[in-house]
Amino acid sequence: MQQTSWFSLIPEQASSFAWQVDGLYYYITAISVFFTIGIFLALIIFAVKFREKEKYGKGADIHGSVALETAWSVIPFLIAMSIFLGGAVVYYNQYRAPADAMEIYVVGKQWMWKTQHSTGQREINELHVPVGRRIKLTMTTEDVIHSFFIPAFRTKADVVPGRYTSLWFEATKPGKYHLFCAEYCGLNHSGMVGWIYVMDQRDYDNWLSGASGNQTPVEAGKELFEVKLGCASCHEGGANQRGAHLEGLFGSTVNLSDGQTVKADEEYIRNSILNPSSQVVAGYAPIMPTFKGQVTEEQLMQLVAYIKTLGGQSGGASTTNTAAPTTGNAAANSSTTGQNPAERRSTNPASASNLASNPNSPEKTNNK
Ligand code: CUA
Repeated sequence: MQQTSWFSLIPEQASSFAWQVDGLYYYITAISVFFTIGIFLALIIFAVKFREKEKYGKGADIHGSVALETAWSVIPFLIAMSIFLGGAVVYYNQYRAPADAMEIYVVGKQWMWKTQHSTGQREINELHVPVGRRIKLTMTTEDVIHSFFIPAFRTKADVVPGRYTSLWFEATKPGKYHLFCAEYCGLNHSGMVGWIYVMDQRDYDNWLSGASGNQTPVEAGKELFEVKLGCASCHEGGANQRGAHLEGLFGSTVNLSDGQTVKADEEYIRNSILNPSSQVVAGYAPIMPTFKGQVTEEQLMQLVAYIKTLGGQSGGASTTNTAAPTTGNAAANSSTTGQNPAERRSTNPASASNLASNPNSPEKTNNK
């Protein structure tokens, strides 16, 4: 819906924390307006009242006032702290994704947004989400810095080359909302826009089952790991395993050969694939080749998604995607059948490049 609120400069509020952002904004605006009016009123009144030079040319001699000086120190301090605390609370709410959030992957590139649901469905410049669910976007970019901005949700986060950033929201009403790139990223930056579709859970489930599925990110990651990139030949357990064990890796603390320790998060896994020699696990030789240039950002996300699912048991190559929405089963089932591009729901002409980035397409199946 493109309804606007009563004040048409402000987009409608459509996320759980939109009112907090607006509240803080109105609060700061009100303080600014109050002092601006106060200062100008005083200026005008004094200019009129004291305009007689002979009478007021020489001011009264004042030698300080403790009460006055305390007041003009303490009051501005309290005002500044109230703005700081309000801002800190809003920031904290926005930038700490809840643990139970449903995860969606986003890759920015000049000049489009590519998204993939954990059930496998891909979209370009569009994102369908259910209303009232917490959604976490894990984002990166194939080229330059972009910024994922949904004004109606009052949220925005940069996507940065070589890093994962995240953003979360809970949409509060069904509708169609603008998606913008909010960081100048080249010639067609202004065209790097799209739509967020917020749907009732039932409509969303219908949409998921109608949208032709690819492999889920976890399935695609498993295929990359076991077949296409051959990671499994060194990392899949057994007596002759040459690479570090990956079972139960995610979230654990890793001892490196240089004596340092590092937390095995998304960033660490990504870096280990691209720059294996920079963080060698203690007890292993630095023999892993780099996969830089051989994997796209989307494939890296899929590998990370897969490695996240590896449990603690030896050989625990579970394909269960813990991030999959509990209600998306119909879609998950259909995702194995719909490989035909003609079945794709997306009518966006950019879907052609969606195909090109499909890890199943021939030019991407290079082994090493
Ligand atoms: Cu992407 Cu501006």
